[in-house]
Amino acid sequence: MNVLILGSGGREHALAWKINQSHHCNQLYIAPGNPGIAQIGQIVEMGVNDFGAIKAFSINNKIDVLVVGPEEPLVNGIYDYMEKAKTENGWKGFVVGPSKEAAQLEGSKAFSKKFMQRYGIPTAAYAEFTQENFEEGIAYIKQHSLPIVLKADGLAAGKGVVISETHDDALKVFEEMIINRQFGKASAKVVIEEFLKGIEVSVFVLTNGHDYQVIGHAKDYKRIGEGDTGLNTGGMGCVTPVPFMDDLFMQKVEERIIAPTVNGLEKEGLVYNGFIFFGLMNVCGEPEVIEYNCRLGDPETEVILPRLDTDLLSLFAAMDNGTLEDANINFSDDYFATVVAVSGGYPGDYKKNIPIVGTENKLPPNSLLFHAGTKDVDGQMVTNGGRVLTITTKGNSIGEAVNQSVLLLKDIQFEGINYRKDIGYEFD
Ligand code: AMP
Ligand code: GLY
Repeated sequence: MNVLILGSGGREHALAWKINQSHHCNQLYIAPGNPGIAQIGQIVEMGVNDFGAIKAFSINNKIDVLVVGPEEPLVNGIYDYMEKAKTENGWKGFVVGPSKEAAQLEGSKAFSKKFMQRYGIPTAAYAEFTQENFEEGIAYIKQHSLPIVLKADGLAAGKGVVISETHDDALKVFEEMIINRQFGKASAKVVIEEFLKGIEVSVFVLTNGHDYQVIGHAKDYKRIGEGDTGLNTGGMGCVTPVPFMDDLFMQKVEERIIAPTVNGLEKEGLVYNGFIFFGLMNVCGEPEVIEYNCRLGDPETEVILPRLDTDLLSLFAAMDNGTLEDANINFSDDYFATVVAVSGGYPGDYKKNIPIVGTENKLPPNSLLFHAGTKDVDGQMVTNGGRVLTITTKGNSIGEAVNQSVLLLKDIQFEGINYRKDIGYEFD
């Protein structure tokens, strides 16, 4: 199969690494990729939202599988666009991802909350507001228990969720979002919801909208500071498997959350051929949904794919040809951890183009380096983003895996480098 992966982060590096191992993989292209990915497949200079170029490339290069890494092209409708390329231009491949309508599970918080409500899927109680019922929103906030969770309805580059500890702060955030359009159109509508107290965990499923397979789970460490302090980031590290994800908890997740979600998609004719990322809260042993994403997570992918022993391209083929139900999913018996090195100042302002040394270091066989925000300038590796690179290690315990990743990161240097040494701390 000829494969085109869209994206340029650590998630896409891990996808390329995994797909490249498949004996079904013929040509592997990645657009726009990064220097780490360039060592695995062929880079194509094409933006992830440049649908016209993606279509032309897919037709000309006989792409069989188009794997969409980030959410934006999915929410913008790449699935539907490429479906048209099948009927109008004779493209013979398929897209791994949901249709535009189904991608609203991630693209609109209000859509996903209503969807969950229709199927009795456990999630925080909520209400939604726009400029029209702004005054009702103020009254709603004033009587709401603390803390209060406010969410911009649309995509806001991971910044659209605010947890307010006081009513005054919540009122300010509410006004900022709805009246001042802090996130543009994305915050014209705001979801206000109950705060769920518990431990977060992410579960990943591949579905064809009828059958599904759980392909992994992980715990993501979102805060910038050790001990889970400071600002939220895209993710500073991940571990898998998570000790509390035992059979009983997973059974609850499947019965109460995954199966009703897939059944709901099918019932409503929401076309879905891709990953669902269930962002869950374990509230005293009972799973609730915090959010749906219509893609894999980053850096979750950097641990779930190394743990997954099953061939990913075979799974994609099974998804496309209706045999997903019969697929065998196998996991490694080891623990996996990834520790992300970020630019100084991240998640606030940070500098780019800082020289990096050590990315060429030879790693032990149980560790992998994934590039996230890097760039090659005339043979010199430089930083090109907030999250710069991540090292994943396989070990006999979470602690062992994390410690080796941290040790290997010590040999990689760039001015301002920052990473958490305490990923997985609660499981030691
Ligand atoms: P999201 O952008 O939806 O992933 O939300 C960002 C983060 O906010 C989540 O990963 C949670 O840590 C937190 N969060 C969102 N909704 C809730 C909630 N209802 N209760 C507690 N924490 C939440
Ligand atoms: N690590 C969280 C995400 O990918 O959304």
